Amino acid sequence: MPPRDPSALVAEMSRAEKLSLVRGTADPAERATGYLPGIERLDVPPLRLVDGPLGVRAEGERATAFPATLATAAAFDPALAREQGAAMGREAVAHDQHVLLAPGVNVVRVPHCGRNFEYLSEDPVLSGTVGAALVDGIQSEDVIATVKHYVANNQETSRTQVSAAVDERALREVYLPPFRAAVAAGVGSVMTAYNRVNGTYMSDHADLVGGVLKDEWGFDGYVVSDWYGLATTVGAATAGLDLEMPGVPAPGAEDHEGEWPDGIPDAGHAGLFGDPLAAAIDDGRVPSERLDEMARRVLGQMARIGLLDGRERTGELDSQRHRDLAERVAGRGTVLLENDGVLPLADDADVALLGPHVHEAKLGGGGSSETTPFHSVAPDEGLRARADGTVTTARGVPPVPSRSLFDRLPYLDWGRDDEESDRPEPSLDDAVDAAADADVAVVLVRDATTEAEDRDSLALPGRQDELVRAVAAANDRTVVVLRTGGPVETPWRDDVAAVVEQWYPGQADGDALAAVCYGDRDPGGRLPVTFAPADTYPASDARQFPGVDGTAHYDEGVFVGYRHFDAAGLDPTYPFGHGHSYADFAYGGVTADGTDRVTVPVENTSDRPGREVVQAYVEPPTVEGVDRPDRVFAGASPVELAAGERREVTVSLDDLAVRRYDPDGGWTVDAGTYGIAVGRSARDDRASVAVDR
Ligand code: BGC
Repeated sequence: MPPRDPSALVAEMSRAEKLSLVRGTADPAERATGYLPGIERLDVPPLRLVDGPLGVRAEGERATAFPATLATAAAFDPALAREQGAAMGREAVAHDQHVLLAPGVNVVRVPHCGRNFEYLSEDPVLSGTVGAALVDGIQSEDVIATVKHYVANNQETSRTQVSAAVDERALREVYLPPFRAAVAAGVGSVMTAYNRVNGTYMSDHADLVGGVLKDEWGFDGYVVSDWYGLATTVGAATAGLDLEMPGVPAPGAEDHEGEWPDGIPDAGHAGLFGDPLAAAIDDGRVPSERLDEMARRVLGQMARIGLLDGRERTGELDSQRHRDLAERVAGRGTVLLENDGVLPLADDADVALLGPHVHEAKLGGGGSSETTPFHSVAPDEGLRARADGTVTTARGVPPVPSRSLFDRLPYLDWGRDDEESDRPEPSLDDAVDAAADADVAVVLVRDATTEAEDRDSLALPGRQDELVRAVAAANDRTVVVLRTGGPVETPWRDDVAAVVEQWYPGQADGDALAAVCYGDRDPGGRLPVTFAPADTYPASDARQFPGVDGTAHYDEGVFVGYRHFDAAGLDPTYPFGHGHSYADFAYGGVTADGTDRVTVPVENTSDRPGREVVQAYVEPPTVEGVDRPDRVFAGASPVELAAGERREVTVSLDDLAVRRYDPDGGWTVDAGTYGIAVGRSARDDRASVAVDR
């Protein structure tokens, strides 16, 4: 079939046909998360939308469960993220889905946010670079990527109502750039957030949707609402929203009476782009050309993936290369926070593997990203398969109940069993005894986070800190492996020999754990978020988070994440960019090509191969009357070096690290001297250079 022009198709359509392209309906196969029925008369096929971002979540189906997106970001490796995106794209194709509701690129503002595991970083450059690579990968397989949640969806508490009071400079410099990077990468779809920004619901936000996203950035795809997240018919249609999802109430939701639980959207609130939109066009509140444009944008993306001309797509599901990739992402995203030399483990070490969930792979957090794998490797299985010594296990303390949005939907009986009931009661004494008898104790601890609620503290839930302390007292070769959806407090860190952050490692959990513990894989990850005590983050005051009287005040402005810790003169527990390697690296002098790129020789001075993430930070000149961060992350290059190998490593510097947004003058590059530091984290410089602009 020759390619068909979306505008010509729209010209042939009745109004009812156009309306059917801008409002979702139920998938007759009950697999897709969102569905458009298509128009048979015009050979427009149905469009199926499905959740991500940790894999494909088609209802009742299985797919590769990738690690938390935070782990993908921790690899600081856009090429790897692109591979992951492409694999998720192929799996979407295998499930006959056309749109993946991924990636999530909201900047990690609040360390407690229950969805941080689905997001990338506290830094806009890292979020934008890795997010754009995911988009590029997904779309390389003729699948439409959906970057979400536009914008300032930085907390789950009151997410359906809260207003982010955020100034234009912070929006421009911190929160919008990852979306802009996705648009520059050609993303086909942008999902609006549930929340309000400066008082206006994002679905109705004419300045940010029609203005910034479409007019200013030239976004030519379609803007889709979050599920039941369309506030008004006329407001949304005129602001620039193109597609309402899911368009129909959830089964049973219309019978729900009373308040909806916090963070849960009203699932009976749907159909605003149905008859109400037709009526608004009839009485002139919405111009009929807007409906044409909405339909054209949806068709434009369908055309781009070949859906209007019968292009064949080739899917792939649960292949060996996807399984290997899930392991590689988990391993490269694993961060070695501390190591006194206990890691890597000797092949023949006798290991006590301890913790309430040593028998379960930690797949992800709760909510719309929950992916059911074909195959997963629990930590005990992975370690046993690799170890030459004995591996004994003990759970030690009671399990951490999992949390999920789905358990809180008033109209859904999820009926999930959390616990394996056939195991003996966990006993702290058993764990301590096992630790005392082993060469090394490896303690696995985790949090439980979900979409639709935030963590109530950054402490490990339950009695896990007690477990770590008791085990550390019994064995001075204790390794703690964190499996958390964001920063967590580690009050015992001085008493243990190593601390590893594995995030939510996904289906390859045990294999990835073994590969890093035994040194088959150098822990490649670096922190995409700062780790610090809860009360030292910028959002530690209730006005900032969770907000007061329905408003979260972004009083910290652009001082998010490490920028805040620098400005406040506070030492974080583990800084942004931090992570050890099993190898050692020496840096030579750095040379700069203006503020475009820097080059530095890096040598692996150890006797083993290693993976270094060479990071660059820009320190802007001082400008009278403007508070700027001391330094901002400008880019990174991961590099694998054999023992003794030396290589020139080039890091491209993102323009965002040089410019600032002036509310009156727009984007500005100040004349002056820019310092460029190159090193191993935001707090570990190895070389620097100054450049005049
Ligand atoms: C989430 C979105 C998701 C959608 C569809 C919403 O609750 O915020 O990220 O894509 O549901 O499941």
